[in-house]
Amino acid sequence: MTNKNILITGGAGFIGSHVVRRFVNEYPDYQIFNLDLLTYAGNPENIKDIERKPNYHFIKGDIRDLAFIRNIFVENNITDVIHLAAESHVDRSITDPFVFIQTNVMGTANLIQAAREHWEEKWDGHLFYHVSTDEVYGALGATGLFTEETRYDPHSPYSASKASSDHIVRAYHDTYGLPVLISNCSNNYGPNQFPEKLIPLFINNIVHRKPLPVYGDGLYTRDWLYVIDHAIAIDLVFHKGKTGETYNIGGFNEWKNIDLIRLLCSIMDKKLGRPEGENAQLITYIKDRPGHDRRYAIDAGKINRELGWKPSVTFEHGLDKTIDWYLENAEWLSRVTSGEYRNYYEEMYGK
Ligand code: NAD
Ligand code: TYD
Repeated sequence: MTNKNILITGGAGFIGSHVVRRFVNEYPDYQIFNLDLLTYAGNPENIKDIERKPNYHFIKGDIRDLAFIRNIFVENNITDVIHLAAESHVDRSITDPFVFIQTNVMGTANLIQAAREHWEEKWDGHLFYHVSTDEVYGALGATGLFTEETRYDPHSPYSASKASSDHIVRAYHDTYGLPVLISNCSNNYGPNQFPEKLIPLFINNIVHRKPLPVYGDGLYTRDWLYVIDHAIAIDLVFHKGKTGETYNIGGFNEWKNIDLIRLLCSIMDKKLGRPEGENAQLITYIKDRPGHDRRYAIDAGKINRELGWKPSVTFEHGLDKTIDWYLENAEWLSRVTSGEYRNYYEEMYGK
């Protein structure tokens, strides 16, 4: 196995922490540099178990700072990048779009420009892997799936900023020949997800018997993938993906929000020893999210055919493990829901 110095960005966040853990543990010959600003979504606790590993290095810093990024490439002779750092929550992008544009668009441009300069057009043995979302494709009607050929049609400032970053990465490939890979994944769930996203927010609210805020008619559909299966797919794409290509990653697992919420309520009735139906009484329909995409669903046929990937965990099993993780990590949850989170929650949902 070749030695590599891999810069993984956003490795203290939800998906990034699972990717960093996997690379540090599976590839002891690689030096892993985890660059993260530790925003509200970044939490060093997420990667506590690997912080003393000899091939792991943490760098606190901002991808919006080009001079700083250039320095990281030089000081650590970075050979490859797996880029996950981003502002990632749609609702926050509606309240404050500019930080999304700065981090997701400019941050990505800074990273790929620094890679281009450091690798000096000698592309052999280098790779810039950009981790993106299915939200760039926009919204589906009742039928059909997003393929790698689906036209980009983003609607929220979040998805528009991710779409822009995908275009920049492709432009560096097409213009300079820089070796890139992009994957677009569906909604992830699992341990360590910040409780602003649907599943951890609702688990936390159920525990505390708080209202479960369902946007609009609750009939919006998402395709859910267990986060560790995403990390496995990223590992595979990084090592076996064909340079210049895009791979869609998804769970073949569509759920209407309200059906998923009812399932969550019912599992948690049992786990918390509450009478069947008690948690569902917390369901509260509230005003819809502006520009809310009706349905996302991924055709993950290409990564399955070409790289042999498919989800390893069923939704029932993954959801069960996820709920258990949040119940067993009440301290993690209470730490991340104190302070700034309270202000965010009140602004979004009222007191
Ligand atoms: P997250 O919000 O949990 O984590 C983002 C991480 O990026 C945090 O650790 C944060 O501190 C860091 N970060 C933010 N701004 C930074 C900056 N300016 N400089 C350095 N670090 C910064 O996000 P996530 O859900 O883990 O998503 C990771 C990536 O995967 C994102 O690019 C996202 O678009 C993509 N993605 C997410 C999902 C999903 O369901 N969560 C699905 C598909 C793709
Ligand atoms: P979310 O987890 O924010 O992911 P995304 O918007 O990126 O798909 O939301 C998943 C779905 O759940 C989406 O249709 C919006 C809906 N939702 C609610 O109904 N209530 C909530 O409080 C949240 C956070 C999301």
